[in-house]
Amino acid sequence: MSNDVKLLDYLRDRHSTAVAQIKEPGPSQDELEGILTAAARVPDHGKLAPWRFIVYRGDVCVSLGEDFLRIALEDNPALADAAQEAERTRFTRGPLVVGVISTAAPHAKIPEWEQVLSAGAVCLNMLMAANAHGYVANWRSEWIAYDERAQAVLGVRPDEKVAGFIHIGSSDFPMPDRPRPQLSDIVTYAGGSEV
Ligand SMILES: Cc1cc2nc3c(=O)[nH]c(=O)nc-3n(C[C@H](O)[C@H](O)[C@H](O)COP(=O)(O)O)c2cc1C
Repeated sequence: MSNDVKLLDYLRDRHSTAVAQIKEPGPSQDELEGILTAAARVPDHGKLAPWRFIVYRGDVCVSLGEDFLRIALEDNPALADAAQEAERTRFTRGPLVVGVISTAAPHAKIPEWEQVLSAGAVCLNMLMAANAHGYVANWRSEWIAYDERAQAVLGVRPDEKVAGFIHIGSSDFPMPDRPRPQLSDIVTYAGGSEV
């Protein structure tokens, strides 16, 4: 089978793995750099690189969990035990989380919208680069992506936005696929004909 056919098979089948199923081992430093290098190779109008990465792993994920819990308790002091544990373990469910941070800003020539789209391309590319290195991944946002207090502890600056938190690790869990859109529901042919 040619490499092209394998790539097509991958694209037809690719899917994320639930974060709860993402376990050790995570990528080595070399593998991580390979994943990040491939992820950054995306269409980017004007070559602005309007995104950056923050890698969260190890002890920092434990202390971030305490921060997430503290913030969640500020908003809801009566948070149930299970919900508190969910906050505490938000970044320790798998081995590694990469924050894809959009640095999109007004520009004389390149619309900000296109810079934002490029960050989305980075996120999908990172999922695929993780798969190519033999790992599973999931693109999450969750409330921490939008809460200014959480952004501050995560190292996201006030003029930036979180495009996604990409959880990366290993799994042998057989993920069921999710429903995918039918082409007939999403495609129209300008001019009204397929040919
Ligand atoms: C920008 C963005 C943010 C997401 N945030 C969440 C989230 O916070 N929680 C969640 O359960 N799924 C979230 N998802 C959906 C997961 O990534 C989901 O597992 C994924 O879309 C499955 O698609 P796939 O199997 O084609 O990769 C998000 C998706 C996107 C594109």
